[in-house]
Order: sequence, then C-alpha cells, then structure tokens
Amino acid sequence: MKDKINKYINDINNIIISDNSEIQNFQNIYLGKKGVISNLFIEFKNIPNNEKKEIGQLLNKLKTTATHKLNSFTVKKTKTTKSPTLDFTMPSNYEKAGSTHPLTKVQNKIINIFEKVGFSISTGPEIEDDWHNFSALNMAKDHPARDMQDTFFISLQPERLLRTHTSSVQIRYMEKNTPPIRIISPGRVYRKEDISARAHCIFHQIEGLYIDQNVSFADLKKMIMYFVQSLFGQEVKIRFRPSFFPFTEPSAEVDIYWGLKTETDYRITKGTGWLEILGCGMIDPNVLDNVNIDSNKFSGFAFGLGIERITMLLYQVDDLRLFFENDLRFLKQFKKLVI
Ligand code: DAH
Repeated sequence: MKDKINKYINDINNIIISDNSEIQNFQNIYLGKKGVISNLFIEFKNIPNNEKKEIGQLLNKLKTTATHKLNSFTVKKTKTTKSPTLDFTMPSNYEKAGSTHPLTKVQNKIINIFEKVGFSISTGPEIEDDWHNFSALNMAKDHPARDMQDTFFISLQPERLLRTHTSSVQIRYMEKNTPPIRIISPGRVYRKEDISARAHCIFHQIEGLYIDQNVSFADLKKMIMYFVQSLFGQEVKIRFRPSFFPFTEPSAEVDIYWGLKTETDYRITKGTGWLEILGCGMIDPNVLDNVNIDSNKFSGFAFGLGIERITMLLYQVDDLRLFFENDLRFLKQFKKLVI
C-alpha cells in the first residue's frame, strides 16, 4: 500500500493540467467521493495496527498534496482567464467633449469686465408686461417700438409679451432696490424681425444700470471707455454719437472704429469704418419717478449692448444665423479660443 500511495503522490506532483475540464477530472479521480483517496481510506481500515501510523501519515500527505495541487490549478485558472483589457487610467476621449458657445463666452467676458468694477448681475423674466417693457421706460403709447410688427404679444388679457430688450430688468430692479445701484442684466430678447444675416427674432443683450448721487455724463463716458478697452484692447478708437432713446436724456450711441482694410470691413461698416456697438444715456428723470426714486437727489446712466453684434466683431463672423444653427463645424472653431 505504501508503494501505491507514493506512486500517487509522485503522479500528482508531475501532473500538468491546462484546461477547466481536466481540473474537474483531477478532482473527481483523486478527491471525489469514490475517488482514489477515499478508496484508500477504506482500504486503510484493514491495515495491521503496527503499520497504521506510518501509512496514515502517508495517506494524509497524499490528501494534502492533491488538495494543494487542485488549489494551485484554481489559482492559475483565475490568473489566466482572459478578460477584456481595460485600462481605467487612460484619458477619456476628450475630443468629443462639448465647448462653450461663442455667445456665452463673450457674455461671460463682458460680465467679468463689469463685475471687476462693482456691478452685480440681476436678471428678469422673458415674458413681460407692458409696464416693465414699455410704459415705465417712458415709452409713450404711440412709440413705434410698440408696433405689433416689432413685438411678440402673447396675450392681451392680461397683456403679456416677449420682452424686446433687457431694459425691462432696470425697472424691476429699481422697483425693489434703492440707490446706489450698479447692475448688469444679461438675457435673451425677442423681436418680430425677418431673419437675415444681420437680424434675428431672438438675440441677446446686456443692460447696464448705474445710479447714485451726482452721476454725470463724464462718469458714463469713463465707464464705456473702460469697457471697450477691456474688451477690444487699449488702442481702440470710439466715438459717442448723439441719439434718442425714450428712457435716457441725453442719449448716445457708441461706435467703434473698425477700419477699412478689407472688403468685409467695407461691407460691415457700410463703407464708413465705424460700427455701432451700444446705446446709452443718462436716465430720464421720468423713469426714476416711475419707480419712486427721487430724481432730484439721484441720477444715473444706463447702457444696452447686443451680444451677437460684439461676438461677430470679435470673431469676424459675418452671418448672425450661424449662432442659432448649432452646426458643430461652426461651434468647434471656438473651442480653443480664449478671450
Ligand atoms: N434698450 C435699447 C435697445 O434695445 C438699448 C439701450 C439703449 C439700452 C440706451 C439702454 C440705453 O439702457 O441707455 O435698443
């Protein structure tokens, strides 16, 4: 019996197994219920007592050898199992990441410029009433901007419309706050315009409002100068052109000198080299009275600019419609641009 056991031990030590079914066979042959080892234990009962100790030890050795061998296969099995090779440390496919829309980039930049000099953001609803969009802003009932051609009215009773400018936010803010006031109001506005390369029925504006004691037109000019230089560079040349807005008196439009070097420059500046970028003025005392701010004590200025127009200038985009089409070939070009 001793020889038989030693032979098994030897066999087991030399056995080489390469696949799962052979492992199963090994287990059945040696360690199974009716396998070699349990048969040997049955035989063991009939062995003379004086040999029991030695053979018993040998039998135990056979059992541990078989068990170890089986375990070694199992360990190997998990090691060699083929799993998909995934490297979780690899960078993700960043090429497919989205990017900030050019209008948002420019809007954020403008907000940032004004935040640096103490302005905070205030927003208002896109669905407005007559009072906030027109009447409180000193727009007489017969003002052309009230024409159904320009405004999207969405209900008449109660009268609701899509705001035609972000100036409405001035009124909302002044109704609830007292001077000093320094706010900018970015947002979407709507007008009944035919869609073309230069106009759209949806666009974006930023409105600015500054109210305090003794605010003068010189303060307005200084603020506008600071803004255009921050956005277009120190060398920028601008001019104030007298204009009219119902809510400001005096009013002005600001043009930036764009130059006349290329054919595009001629086209976008209509041959003058100058391009209008914003409207502004000293707040009309009637507007202050409408929101119960003492116009004898306080004065202020306001300005409004179109984000599309400025983005077109900064990035040399010559068709406004591109901003709303969300064509990836267009949007991707702005991915790496930092302004
Ligand atoms: N609300 C005017 C527009 O949409 C822009 C504007 C002009 C705003 C002059 C102002 C301002 O605050 O003072 O065309």
